[in-house]
Amino acid sequence: MTGLVAGSAVVTGGGSGLGRAIAQALAAGGAPVAVVDLFPDGSAETVALIRDKGGHAIFVEADVSRWADVDHAVGGDESAIRAVVPAGRRGTVEEVAAAACYLASANAAFVTGHALVIDGGWTAQ
Ligand SMILES: NC(=O)c1ccc[n+]([C@@H]2O[C@H](COP(=O)([O-])OP(=O)(O)OC[C@H]3O[C@@H](n4cnc5c(N)ncnc54)[C@H](O)[C@@H]3O)[C@@H](O)[C@H]2O)c1
Repeated sequence: MTGLVAGSAVVTGGGSGLGRAIAQALAAGGAPVAVVDLFPDGSAETVALIRDKGGHAIFVEADVSRWADVDHAVGGDESAIRAVVPAGRRGTVEEVAAAACYLASANAAFVTGHALVIDGGWTAQ
């Protein structure tokens, strides 16, 4: 694979299945990969598969449902989060709740389906 933008990749659930395949593909494309997963065993296998092919990978043990673990996985550095989110900050739960209320409101009466991205521009960059 070619054409990846420069930078490293963080793959959650990289110890198995889809996450492993994504981690392998990104590593094959030249990206150093952090394999983030609950379980070391499968993740060690993913890391080994990548390294065997000359790629770069590390395992980061984390439960992505826990905020503190995610902070740790990205280095626990607030400035790093600000650097990768175009809005320059974390979103708030209230901002997500506001979107849910819009969809449940009369203002959305003509909206029959929509994938609403509430991420400060993360996926649009
Ligand atoms: N396999 C498919 O065809 C398919 C299709 C569409 C969606 N999905 C969804 O995509 C996801 C991944 O599917 P898969 O087949 O690769 O599953 P999988 O079970 O093979 O892999 C999931 C990985 O995520 C890790 N994980 C689970 N909870 C975690 C947590 N809280 N923090 C960190 N790591 C965690 C697991 O340890 C495991 O390594 C699932 O949610 C699945 O429902 C799968």
